[in-house]
Amino acid sequence: MFLGLDLGTSELKALLLSPSHEVIATAHAPLSVQHPQPLWAEQAPADWWRALEDVMGQLQRAHAPAMAQVQGLGLSGQMHGAVLLGQAGEVLRPAILWNDGRSADQCAQLQRLVPQLSDITGNLAMPGFTAPKLLWVRANEPELFARTQRVLLPKDWLRLKLTGEAVSDMSDAAGTLWLDTARRDWSDRMLAACGLNRSHMPRLVEGSALSAQVLPQLCARWGLPAQVAVAGGAGDNAASAMGLGLVEPGQGFVSLGTSGVVFVVGERFAPDPAHAVHAFCHAVPQRWHQMSVMLSAASAVTWAASRLGYADEAALLADAATLTPQQQAQAPMFLPYLSGERSPHNDPQARAAWLGMTAAHTRADLAWAVVEGVSFGLRDGLLTLGGPIDNRGLALVGGGARSLWWGQVLSDVLGLPLWRPAHAGVAAAMGAARLGWLAAGGDIAEVCRPVAAASTLQPDRDAHARHLLRHARWRAMYAGAARAPGPAV
Ligand code: XUL
Repeated sequence: MFLGLDLGTSELKALLLSPSHEVIATAHAPLSVQHPQPLWAEQAPADWWRALEDVMGQLQRAHAPAMAQVQGLGLSGQMHGAVLLGQAGEVLRPAILWNDGRSADQCAQLQRLVPQLSDITGNLAMPGFTAPKLLWVRANEPELFARTQRVLLPKDWLRLKLTGEAVSDMSDAAGTLWLDTARRDWSDRMLAACGLNRSHMPRLVEGSALSAQVLPQLCARWGLPAQVAVAGGAGDNAASAMGLGLVEPGQGFVSLGTSGVVFVVGERFAPDPAHAVHAFCHAVPQRWHQMSVMLSAASAVTWAASRLGYADEAALLADAATLTPQQQAQAPMFLPYLSGERSPHNDPQARAAWLGMTAAHTRADLAWAVVEGVSFGLRDGLLTLGGPIDNRGLALVGGGARSLWWGQVLSDVLGLPLWRPAHAGVAAAMGAARLGWLAAGGDIAEVCRPVAAASTLQPDRDAHARHLLRHARWRAMYAGAARAPGPAV
C-alpha cells in the first residue's frame, strides 16, 4: 500500500493506493485561509498538522489492515508558501501563502539585485513565489528575519514533523526562486540576494527519491509498519501530473482548483519569463514542465456563488447553464482577478470586475460571465505556453472539473479535447502516493501508468468560434478597467 498526502489550500487530502492501482480510501480535513490585511493570505502550520492527524485518524479507524501495509508515503502540497523556523525548529510566524500579494515591491527589488534572475530560475519574480516573501519579512519584520534559521515549503514542514528531517524536492523547490532550475540545485546567488544561504535551505532530492523515514512513534500511533519510506514528493501541480501519468513531453492538464493551472511536460528547461510562464522541474529526474497559473479559478465561482446568493457553486453553474448562445453574446464580461493575477499579466494590482451591465441583465448573466471569465483566463494561460500539446488533449482536474457542463465550456473555449480521469479531484494525492511507491522501490513504467479517461469532452467548432470573438473583447477590457483604486497597497 502507498499513502499520498496532499496539503491543499482549502483542505488536506489523503489517499491510500494499492499495488494494483486501486484507490482503497480517501480522507479529507478542511483548512481555512486568513486574510489579516488586503492582499495577505496566511495559514498557521499548526492547523496543517491538526488536519494531518485528522486524516490519519480517519484512515486508521476505517482502514487499519491497509494502513498496516503502507510501504511508501508521498507528500504533495500548495507551492511557494514560506514557513519560517527558529533555532529550536519553532514556527516564527504564520506561513505566507502562494496567493499572498504583499511582496510586489520586493519582486522589483529582487529583479534589480539579480538581473540574471530569470536565466537562473526560469521565472519572473512574482509575489506568489517564496523569495520575495522573505525579502518582505526582512524589510518589515527584521527581528523575526534575524531569528530565522530555516525556511521550508508547506509540505516540507509536514515532512519535518513526520520524519524529523528538513528535505525538499526539485519541483516544489523550483517555485522558491532560490533554485537553479536547469542544474536542479540551490542558487547561492539567489539566496545571497535575500540575505540567506544554503544553511537556511533543506536538503534536495528528486520527487521520486527517498527523503527520510516516518518517525517510529508516529508509525506506532497510526498503525503503520515500523519502516515507511517518504518520497521527496512534489508541488501539487507536478504531483497531479504524476497522478495522471503525465511524464512525456506534450502531455499536460488543466486544473480548475482554487487556482487555475495549465501544465505541460517538457524534456528541457524552457523558460519564457516575458509571458509570466512558470518553468519548473518535474517530479521525476530529467524532466521539466511549463505552467501558467491564474490565481482565482474555481475560487471565483465560490466567491460569486456566495455574493450572488446562490446556495452553492453547483446552483450557480446550473443557472449559468440556462443561457442560450444569443444570451451569452449579450452578457456582461467578468475579469476574474480577485487576488491580482500571475499568468499572463504578473499584476498583483489587477482587480476583478463585471463590465458591460445593463438594467436588463439577470443574476444568471452575471453567473455565466464568471464561468466565461475564468475559462478565458485559462485560455490566456494556454496561449503563453510554447510547444505542441499531445493529441489526447489535456486532462481536466480540480474541484471545478466535477461539473461536466463547465468542462464542456472550457473545452470549447480552449479548442482542445479535455479528458476526465476517474479520480479528478484527488490527482495530486494520487501522484503523491505514486511518488511514495517509487521511493519504496517501484518501477517508473509500472507506477506512472497513464490513467484511463472516464470521459472525453470534444470542443464544439461553432462554440469555439463564438468564444474567440468574446475573448478578444475581454482581453481589451483588462487593459483599461481593472486596477486597484487609490495608491498601491
Ligand atoms: C502554482 C501555484 C498554485 C498552488 C496551489 O505556482 O501557486 O497552483 O500550488 O496550491
